[in-house]
Amino acid sequence: MSDVMTFEVENGIGVITIDSPPVNALGVNTRRAVAEGFDKAWADASVKAIVLICGGRTFFAGADITEFGKPPQPPSLPELLTYLETSQVPVIAAIHGAALGGGLEIALHCHYRIATPSAKAGLPEVNLGLLPGAGGTQRLPRIVGVPAALEIITSGRHVPAKEALDLGIFDALAEEGKLREDAIAFAQKIVAENAPLIRVRDRQDRVEEYRGQSDVFDAFRKKNARKFRGFKAPESIIKAIEAAANLPYDDGAAEERRLFMALHDGVQSQAQRYVFFAERKTSKVPDVPKDTPTRAVNKVGVIGAGTMGGGITMNFLNAGMPVTLVEQTQEALDRGLSVIRRNYENSAKKGRMTAEQVEQCVSLISPSTDYGDLGDQDLIIEAVFETMEIKKDVFTKLDQIAKDGAILASNTSYLDLDEIAGSTGRPQDVIGLHFFSPANVMPLLEIVRGEKTGEDLINTAMQLAKKIGKTPVLSRVCYGFIANRVMTVRGKQADAMILQGVSPEDIDRVIYDYGFAMGPFQMRDLVGLDVIGRGSNEKTVASELVARDRLGQKKNGGYYDYDENRKATLSPIAMEIIRDVAAEKGVKQEPQIDEEEIIARLLYPVVNEGARVLDEGVAIRGSDVDIACIKGYNWPVYTGGPMFWADTVGLDKIASKLSDLADQYGDAFAPSPFLVKLAKEGGRLSEVSS
Ligand code: 3HC
Ligand code: NAI
Repeated sequence: MSDVMTFEVENGIGVITIDSPPVNALGVNTRRAVAEGFDKAWADASVKAIVLICGGRTFFAGADITEFGKPPQPPSLPELLTYLETSQVPVIAAIHGAALGGGLEIALHCHYRIATPSAKAGLPEVNLGLLPGAGGTQRLPRIVGVPAALEIITSGRHVPAKEALDLGIFDALAEEGKLREDAIAFAQKIVAENAPLIRVRDRQDRVEEYRGQSDVFDAFRKKNARKFRGFKAPESIIKAIEAAANLPYDDGAAEERRLFMALHDGVQSQAQRYVFFAERKTSKVPDVPKDTPTRAVNKVGVIGAGTMGGGITMNFLNAGMPVTLVEQTQEALDRGLSVIRRNYENSAKKGRMTAEQVEQCVSLISPSTDYGDLGDQDLIIEAVFETMEIKKDVFTKLDQIAKDGAILASNTSYLDLDEIAGSTGRPQDVIGLHFFSPANVMPLLEIVRGEKTGEDLINTAMQLAKKIGKTPVLSRVCYGFIANRVMTVRGKQADAMILQGVSPEDIDRVIYDYGFAMGPFQMRDLVGLDVIGRGSNEKTVASELVARDRLGQKKNGGYYDYDENRKATLSPIAMEIIRDVAAEKGVKQEPQIDEEEIIARLLYPVVNEGARVLDEGVAIRGSDVDIACIKGYNWPVYTGGPMFWADTVGLDKIASKLSDLADQYGDAFAPSPFLVKLAKEGGRLSEVSS
């Protein structure tokens, strides 16, 4: 007898309830429980129809992702679903929360589906580098048609109940909070009306019209080429849906299974499954249990309305929280406010929000040039210039003004948080909240833990991150924290390589082909070379470009020249500067090097720095380093991030290549003793955890 299933009969309706926390994932126990429920229902002659419903917060959230890659245990999900579909009495899926992946597939093997108005339906397997492998690609198009199925399955989005009803995914909506009663009533009606047992597999009308229409699929591929670049799953999804259109159901399902298994066994899906769990781990801090007290954060203050302060402010406004925004001059304040307003208005123009919502958000700002207005805030985030003296001055003022218990946060990128905290009499109240630019868009929030930062602050920051839609990653204090520190070494090596004669264009292309949105030089041109080189007095290619007033895309071009359509061509001026700087520094010119070598010289040092960050305890776990790079630098998710990627390449290979490079080019490449040790022991960077 299963401990996650209960079976009851109410007025001729058999109700199978599955309650397997946290999300009713369809692991082996749950699969067996579902089969057992159906056996019971079928064995009871009084049962005229079956309602399949879940307890807890959601309907089945899909296959149990922890089972992937392990030996299969019967019944497999497809076997179970085929079994359920043999029911001779009507089966009604009663959905609350979300019916996702295998969860929606189960529902699509039932004859009818009823859901609460707050429920959602989706096939999010694409986010795990997979496709729906238990009939989803064959069944959804049979209900919603090919174009909608292509969009829903390749995006993995959660379709809200009302839309799902309109599309025919759901047959009826229940009253919120009354799903069980309404589903039983629905079942009774089906029985009373002697309504047909509708098997989705038998429906042909919505797919038949696309038989042989390869142009529809090609057009979809073309339209989404940029979005799908590098990912394997979307193409397999398109092929599976094409099979739904062209083949009889069973053949289509067999093709779906074949494509599913190929993805399942591939590195991309392994990486994306790892990322799924890695993302959920970042908020778990070994010495800060979840029940650590938190501080209430309702009113927020932000100091500095520049690039970062403005974006940071928007995060809180979006979450409906009022922000007091303080600048040093009225002029800077007005400039910052107008940028915020413009950003919102641009979102409205793109249809992402209404004009009313724009006003609502903007009205939550209390602009001020008076620090005195920060006396009542629960959290104050400083985003002023990156200069220690200025930061200390700001924190000294805050110490005098902020109320007792207020959280004092710095958005510093590189400065020593402990030194900043030392300028207050309350270092336990000081924390780093390091946002990434553009702060209203980039999902990473590094939470920087100073020597004396209170544990309650860390727990509060973790929860706050969730509230404003960010993924938190905890970092100890060091130069650059996690993401900037490990990624900066890539930029340094890119700079070294162009001086050795490798074209910036080749470097950008190789990094783009690896899966980044753009290469390091394209990125600098976009951000602005004056911003990148700020604070350094060293003569570099970038500083020389700035000296010639080449600031990147915003002024005169940078490494590239840009035409009126922003099409880039390598700049002869930049090339001349590169040659001059190389000659002045006496850098030896090298013969052309291949892609693999470029990757090794740019990305192995990132891996190496990640190993150092772990060795020093700056990051708690290898997977946190990966999430920081994926969420903060758009490191391609299908590689799993630098740590997971390094594991797939082989730590041995990386450590020995780094040693060779160190012999040739010096200590910057010297493999960290921690990396060497891990490689020798056959360990994995992605599994390091302190
Ligand atoms: N398998 C195993 N564990 C799962 C899981 C799954 N499908 N879905 C969620 N979990 C776990 C999480 O890891 C987390 O564990 P933790 O508490 O130990 O960290 C716990 O359940 C709660 O999850 P969340 O923190 O994500 O809870 P939320 O309430 O924020 O979100 C959710 C709930 C929307 C259901 C979200 O968990 C989710 O999107 N889950 C994955 C859905 C999915 O991808 N389904 C497809 C699976 S693949 C499949 O079905 C293949 C089939 O086609 C053959
Ligand atoms: P910015 O120059 O765009 O903005 C700084 C703002 O602070 C200016 O508007 C300035 O008038 C204001 N300011 C200066 N001193 C002040 C004071 N004493 N009181 C009130 N306002 C004051 O700089 P940006 O880029 O926004 O950087 C701010 C901080 O964020 C820095 O610490 C920086 O390192 C960090 N950061 C920057 C990122 C970026 O990509 N720009 C990314 C992550 C962090």
